Amino acid sequence: MTSLKVNGETYQVAATPDMPLLWVLRDHLKLTGTKFGCGEGLCGACTVLIDGAAERSCSITLAEVGERQVTTIEGIPANHPVKQAWLAEEVSQCGYCQPGQVVAAVALLKQNRLPSDEQINQAMSGNLCRCGTYQRIRKAIHAASS
Ligand code: FES
Repeated sequence: MTSLKVNGETYQVAATPDMPLLWVLRDHLKLTGTKFGCGEGLCGACTVLIDGAAERSCSITLAEVGERQVTTIEGIPANHPVKQAWLAEEVSQCGYCQPGQVVAAVALLKQNRLPSDEQINQAMSGNLCRCGTYQRIRKAIHAASS
């Protein structure tokens, strides 16, 4: 058993320490909002917050997370300005990458309250969207930051 802190709770999980966090979240804790895309740290679909910073959950093991606090899309409240802006701007198309996009946007706004378009593009460049919702993502981040 390994202990893992997620969304304010401490869980004991029967997973090996080398298991990627993504699979612990999805298969053990049934927190399926965090998505599997590439499994290689390239697409951002699996983004979660670890101690407030955006991280790829497919590329970090349970042992590497250690005692740090993980926040998934489920742990970001529905009334959070980023989630509200995502709904207001109707960002999602197919929706698959959107949990990772929202989590990355939350991390960005934590570091930079008023990011420029360029700063948004740079911060979000690792989160791919095959539907091409990038313009609405920028708009929603600006809306959430104002
Ligand atoms: Fe983790 Fe693509 S699934 S970055």
